[in-house]
Amino acid sequence: MRYAYYTLLFAVALTISIAGFRGMRSTQPPIIVFPDMDFQAKYKPQAASKFFADGRADRPAPAGTVPRGRSTAADPDFLRADDAHYAGKNADGSFVKGFPVEVSETMIRRGQNRFNVYCAPCHGVNGDGQGITKAYGMVATPTYHDDRLRTMAEGEIFNTITHGKNTMMPYADKLSPDERWAVIAYVRALQRAHHAKLDDVPLANRGELK
Ligand code: HEC
Repeated sequence: MRYAYYTLLFAVALTISIAGFRGMRSTQPPIIVFPDMDFQAKYKPQAASKFFADGRADRPAPAGTVPRGRSTAADPDFLRADDAHYAGKNADGSFVKGFPVEVSETMIRRGQNRFNVYCAPCHGVNGDGQGITKAYGMVATPTYHDDRLRTMAEGEIFNTITHGKNTMMPYADKLSPDERWAVIAYVRALQRAHHAKLDDVPLANRGELK
């Protein structure tokens, strides 16, 4: 019986303490049983800092930082020296001719690998535009071997890979800028091979030609 009174007393105290203070405002911070990581030493935006020499908690972006989602097309003022590498464009907005990266055999082989994965289904393994998708209605895919694409600036091809063109989708999410240059180097190799003359073949290998 005694315990029944205690329980009742406890229940009444609990009811008053919870229900009785509902709606009351407190200037005290709430009681936090499990603080987890709610409170920790940190800098708030635009706050001062004694740690850095310039007294700012906000740190300026390191030199060479490339903001995501900003493009030269949307923001012409953003044209910078390394846009040749990342956008295929010169400072005046024209397309880069040649390669702003070093071209090597390893790089071209990487380009071949990426080309066969991402481009060959439409453009064909030798770049003649007769990839497997042509049989399924992708009829607009051009050959790389006409004069227009042979003389097209490397930067314009870079731009096509980055942004796509009409029914060709963009490949910026699948190929890093360096991989795009590697693919372009391989496209150049395909074009060169397609228009090769007998003189281009080393004497020792000419016997292998049929
Ligand atoms: C889904 C099929 C498809 C794939 C995959 C594809 N392309 Fe294309 N590509 C096209 C079509 C279609 C066009 C013609 C676009 C137009 O001019 O309307 C085209 C056009 C081009 C052009 C010419 C652009 C111009 O200005 O005329 C280049 C260069 C090119 N592609 C390179 C590539 C490279 C490099 C890859 C691989 C990273 C690739 N394409 C992957 C379908 C494809």
